[in-house]
Amino acid sequence: MTDVAPSPLKLSVIGCGYLGAVHAAAMAQLGHTVVGLDVDAERIAALSKAQAPFHEPGFGALLEENVGAGRLTFTNSYDDLADVDVHFLALGTPQRDDGLAADLSYIHSALDSLTPHLQARHGKPTLVVGKSTVPVGSARALRERLEEIEGVHLVWNPEFLREGFAVEDTLRPDRLVYGVGHPVQDAEAVTVLDAVYASLIALDIPRKVYNYESAELVKVSANSFLATKISFINAISELCDITGADVNDVAEAIGMDDRIGRKFLRAGIGFGGGCLPKDLRGLISRAGELGAIDSFAFLRDIDAINTGRREYTLRLATRLLGGSVDGRRIAVLGAAFKPDTDDVRDSPALDIALRLFAEGARITITDPEALDNVRKRYPSVRTAATVEDALADAELVLLLTEWGEYKALDPTAIASQVSAPRIIDGRNVLDLGAWRDAGWEAIALGRP
Ligand code: UGA
Repeated sequence: MTDVAPSPLKLSVIGCGYLGAVHAAAMAQLGHTVVGLDVDAERIAALSKAQAPFHEPGFGALLEENVGAGRLTFTNSYDDLADVDVHFLALGTPQRDDGLAADLSYIHSALDSLTPHLQARHGKPTLVVGKSTVPVGSARALRERLEEIEGVHLVWNPEFLREGFAVEDTLRPDRLVYGVGHPVQDAEAVTVLDAVYASLIALDIPRKVYNYESAELVKVSANSFLATKISFINAISELCDITGADVNDVAEAIGMDDRIGRKFLRAGIGFGGGCLPKDLRGLISRAGELGAIDSFAFLRDIDAINTGRREYTLRLATRLLGGSVDGRRIAVLGAAFKPDTDDVRDSPALDIALRLFAEGARITITDPEALDNVRKRYPSVRTAATVEDALADAELVLLLTEWGEYKALDPTAIASQVSAPRIIDGRNVLDLGAWRDAGWEAIALGRP
C-alpha cells in the first residue's frame, strides 16, 4: 500500500504508546515525514529498529515499510523536532490515583518540553494537535499556554481507533473531528490539518470542524455510550440467567432494529482496556465538577454493572466447583482485555483470574500474545504457552478472551486433556450444544 499525500508535511508525534506509535506510522504511510518522540528510551530503541513494542495486527509491517523508506524516525529529544509543521500530542491520560478524573500530567509535561522549541516560522503556521482523550474544557485551558507564541495553533482531533484494528481505523476512520478554539483565528490551522489528512479526505471520509468542547465531548461520549450498550446487555443477561432466556437471541433480535444495532451487544464478562473504563469514569468526574452530577449517576451504574460481572463469574466458577475454588485447578483461556491485542490494562479476564488466585485456586493462564505482560506484572501467577499445557488436569476451564483459536477449539479432542470437562464461556462465543454433546458441563453468562 503506498498512499502519497499531495504535499508531504513534517510531523511529530509526541508519545509513542498504542495511539502515538500507530498514528506516527500511519501518517508516514500517507507520505509525510514523521518523527515520533517518547521519553521511554527502550521503546524508542525498538521502534527505531522497526520492532513493534506491542502486538497490533498490521502495525509491524507498516513500521518496517516506513522506517525503511526513511519517512519515519524516532527520538527521545525535543531538539529533533525542529521545523515541524504539526506536532501531534498522543500522550496517555490514565485515571488518576486519587479519584475518577483523568490525569493530564503527561500532556502538561510534554507541553513544558515542547514550548521552548516552538518559534515563529517566518509566516508559516505551526500546529499542536491533541489526539489524547481529555476532559471537556481542557483544550481551551491548554490553548492559553500556547497563545504567546506567534503562529502556533492548537486543534483537538480525537482518535477513535480500536486496539486490534488500530492501523485500519487510523487509515480508514469513520470520521475526522477537529476541535478549534476560534473559527476564524484557526481557519489556517484547519487548512494545514486538511493537508495532513488529504488522502483520507479524498476518500470521502467525513471531516467535521467543531469547537474544542464539542470535539472533546464527542470522544468521551462515544466511549461512554459503547460502555452503556455493553452494560445494558450484561444487565439483561442476568435476567436471562434467572428466567431461562438466551441473551445471544435477545441481542440478535434487538440488534436487527437499526436504531439499536447489533454491535457492542455481546454479553459476557464485561469491558476493560485502557479506554472505556477510564473515559466513563472521567466523564462522571467532569460532569460532577461542572454541576451535572445527577444526570450522570447512571454512568456509575454502568461502571458497577461492568465490574460486577467479574464477581458474578467468580461466583459461577465457585458454584460449579461445589462451593469453593480453594486448591482447585483452573485453566484460564485469555488474559488480554480483548482478542488481537497483548494489552492487559484493566482486563476483565486477568482480573477474574487474579480473583480466583486470591481465593486459593491453582490457576494457569494462557494467551496467544499477552503472557509477557502478565508475567511482568504478576510473576507469581502460573502461565502456560499453549492451550494444551494450560488444560492439563484442569477441573474447570474459563474462556475469558475470545481469541479465534479458543473459539475454534474442538470439544471432543480436548475433553481427554482435562481432569473434569467443565467450561464457563465468559464471552458467549461457544456452541454450548456441541460442547455438551461432547460430554462437557458447559455454561455461559446469560444462556440456558
Ligand atoms: C475503544 C473504542 O471502541 C474506540 O473507538 C476508541 O478509540 C478507543 O477505545 C480509545 O478510546 O482509544 P478499545 O479500547 O480498543 O477501543 O476496545 P473496544 O473494542 O471498544 O472494546 C472494549 C472492551 O469492551 C473490551 O474489553 C471488549 O471485550 C468489550 N466488549 C466489546 C464487550 O464486552 N462486548 C461488546 O459487545 C463489545
